[in-house]
Amino acid sequence: MATNRTFTMIKPDAFEAGNSGAILKMIEEAGFKIVAMKATKLTAELAGKFYEVHKERPFYNDLCAYMSSGPIFAAILEKDNAVEDFRKLIGATNPADAAEGTIRKIFAKSIEANAVHGSDSDDNAAIEGNFFFNQAERVL
Ligand code: PPS
Repeated sequence: MATNRTFTMIKPDAFEAGNSGAILKMIEEAGFKIVAMKATKLTAELAGKFYEVHKERPFYNDLCAYMSSGPIFAAILEKDNAVEDFRKLIGATNPADAAEGTIRKIFAKSIEANAVHGSDSDDNAAIEGNFFFNQAERVL
């Protein structure tokens, strides 16, 4: 059964462009509750750990450099069917392929600077949430 939490980051492009508020508004209006959130900046080493699962992919170094290039928001979101519903809300990885009205279609600049991250499974949502937040930093 699907759990009711997912993990997201507002990436450096969207943070820098001042789109965080508009993106969080879309997230809340879609029925997600923000149960943990912080502004932070990843070091290259931390980005490397977070994206370790992609380390054999050709874009890994660029992705880690990009994700440590500026501040981000990290958040845990709660909603029924959170992982799948959030992936629908953000749209395809490449904004050129993203459906109209999705967060990436509206805010992403490129496949790298694509505005937001969304966990791809319940297991990864838990791992990624725990990467950024301890028990005292989240609601329940
Ligand atoms: S996903 O969400 O895991 O299904 O997407 P995937 O295509 O596997 O991509 C994994 C993450 O890598 C980023 N990505 C890239 N970064 C830079 N350059 C290129 N070409 C590129 N292709 C994919 C993509 O935005 C995903 O980041 P996250 O943070 O998981 O959304």
